[in-house]
Amino acid sequence: MMNLSQKTCQIDDIYLRNDTFSVLLRLGIFVVFKFKTKGKCILLKGLHKEGVFRAIFERRDVRQFNSKPIPNESLEKILLAGHHAPSVGFMQPWNFILVTSEEIKERLAWAADKERRALAIHYEGERANQFLNLKIEGIRQAPLTICITCDPTRGGSHVLGRNSIPETDILSTACAIQNMWLASYAEGLAMGWVSFYKKNDVRDILNIPPHIEPVALLSIGYTDQYPTVPILETANWEKRRSLNELIFYEAWDSPDQENSTLLEKIVKEVEPLNPSNRGEGSSGV
Ligand SMILES: Cc1cc2nc3c(=O)[nH]c(=O)nc-3n(C[C@H](O)[C@H](O)[C@H](O)COP(=O)(O)O)c2cc1C
Repeated sequence: MMNLSQKTCQIDDIYLRNDTFSVLLRLGIFVVFKFKTKGKCILLKGLHKEGVFRAIFERRDVRQFNSKPIPNESLEKILLAGHHAPSVGFMQPWNFILVTSEEIKERLAWAADKERRALAIHYEGERANQFLNLKIEGIRQAPLTICITCDPTRGGSHVLGRNSIPETDILSTACAIQNMWLASYAEGLAMGWVSFYKKNDVRDILNIPPHIEPVALLSIGYTDQYPTVPILETANWEKRRSLNELIFYEAWDSPDQENSTLLEKIVKEVEPLNPSNRGEGSSGV
């Protein structure tokens, strides 16, 4: 188990402070950066590069929280990270409903629990027991839950790109969620994605209009038990598949032996940052 306070990679908070010194420093960094990188792709090095990969590998879905309050500055960074996600036609279809009221959290937790019980009919025997033992949300415990929504009408009826694949608006919202997940990790906070609910239950509880999609309930807070491997892996529900088996070359279902070997080599170079490869095991959460 990893204690979040032991984490070494933090994003540089100079970008969110507004005192004169920070603003001037930011301006200076911006000018030098623009001059040095004009027309070039940006190549991250050292700790910056390591930070990106650590966040990707070590971010976890979390369902256990303690009651320590979330600093406003961290929350602002998480929301800003969400808002800087890519979106189809730059439509930015998201809104963020921040829920801290115990009463409303209780109602959201009820909606999730109702759905969990309804879904249990899909499993039988041992799998049914396993499912009912899974903790699928931490809404009551987490000090904050953010309902992130998607407005399919934002930007009018002909949003660039969304005309071809309408669900790209939801996909854009998912990009915002992943940004928020990684930013939470960088801030030493845990986040859990809850999708077990009937959308109309959540619409009713949060007064969301019928055309707006409640895409996710994101519980955020500090935790004493940040898992090192996915909780569903610890619970023997599912394990990570081999990347090699998921990649085809030139056409569907055509693996390439030569490329697979090259890929294995690359994965070995990047993966020392992955905690499950360091033999740290799971937290048992
Ligand atoms: C679209 C989506 C919906 C999810 N919904 C839930 C959920 O309702 N409850 C839950 O406990 N986890 C949920 N998760 C988290 C997954 O279970 C988790 O991402 C997966 O087990 C891998 O673990 P990791 O996120 O720690 O890598 C969801 C994740 C995604 C991407």
